[in-house]
Amino acid sequence: MFNVYPQFDLDIVRGAGAWLWDAAGRRYLDFYGGHAVISIGHSHPHYLERIQHQLQQIAFYSNAVPIGLQRELAAKLGVLSGYPDYNLFLCNSGAEANENALKLAAFDTGRSVIAASEGAFHGRTAAAGAASWGSAVQSPLSRSIELRFTALDDCAALERALAPGDVCAFIVEGVQGIAGAHVPSPSFLQAARSLCDKYGTMLILDEVQSGYGRCGAFFAHQHAAIAADMITVAKGMANGFPIGGLMIHPRIHAAHGLLGSTFGGNPLACAAGLAVLEVMEAENLIRRSITAADQLRSGLADLPALREIRGRGLLMGLEFDSPAAPLRQRLLQDHAIFTGSSACPLTLRLLPPLTIDRAETHCFIAGLRSLLTQMKQEIET
Ligand SMILES: Cc1ncc(COP(=O)(O)O)c(C=O)c1O
Repeated sequence: MFNVYPQFDLDIVRGAGAWLWDAAGRRYLDFYGGHAVISIGHSHPHYLERIQHQLQQIAFYSNAVPIGLQRELAAKLGVLSGYPDYNLFLCNSGAEANENALKLAAFDTGRSVIAASEGAFHGRTAAAGAASWGSAVQSPLSRSIELRFTALDDCAALERALAPGDVCAFIVEGVQGIAGAHVPSPSFLQAARSLCDKYGTMLILDEVQSGYGRCGAFFAHQHAAIAADMITVAKGMANGFPIGGLMIHPRIHAAHGLLGSTFGGNPLACAAGLAVLEVMEAENLIRRSITAADQLRSGLADLPALREIRGRGLLMGLEFDSPAAPLRQRLLQDHAIFTGSSACPLTLRLLPPLTIDRAETHCFIAGLRSLLTQMKQEIET
């Protein structure tokens, strides 16, 4: 394999709900969710049944023919997300959704400059990589695209970036995930909405990580009561089946050949996507995840060495006094709890499935508390 991933030496062979098992039969609590992907829990019975049924009908056909399941998915996503009149373009990943959103903004406005936020991550393709903060993702190809980065929550800087009138899109995450669960203030998102209107710039909300109920609303930006011109989705959308989507304001016109994808919107991916929405609705998962997030926050509040709890809902960043990497490693090794890292070295990221219950929340808090106490004693002795 082309060696691009720093990895834990774990052989995961099975998952159910919020739990994983390795080949030796050891059980792990999954507060990482394969990077915020597992929304309805591993191996949910309705998800399995929906996919198995679809496999027996037809797994793949291309967009050379209309695919009824795409319309079903678009309609259900529109209604559940509060964007019933938006059009849906289907692709296969988060980067691809953002790449297409930026491309569509460039087509629609005739402009080519992009505005984005410091700390942002939007994926590793050319334009999405250009709009991502940090040199590691930016190849010379990405650097050939003109970008204006401004600090999250700095309205005056954003206005300076948009004022020349040459910016096709301002792209921003509903909550900055990889940066360490930084939440844009509602007033910043509201200002961004009016500035985009004022300067003819498209507002793209990247909800690839923060969307699909993870942040206590269908989309995190809905806490600011604004509407975006385009919204990108992926991770939680099909609970691990590769899919991405771009929700597009009805004022933006489609034309044949403008966007496209061979695999995007294939029947199997749509069945997986529909299964997720059906489970979210039937099990009231957004409501349940809010309760779980509240339980987590209150249980974590008095932990030693915890400086700050950031984020929204079940996209949570725990910032400690010292580096989080050893903590993450030992949570996994000693307590069999899987968590996420972030670009902030002091921050541990929590991205559990939306289905976690009180017992699982307590298990996480007890494991972390015991590890922190143990590490404190080790330092003192
Ligand atoms: C906010 C955000 N946007 C886009 C992406 C890219 O998604 P993918 O890895 O599916 O291309 C990610 C991945 O972590 C993400 O967190």
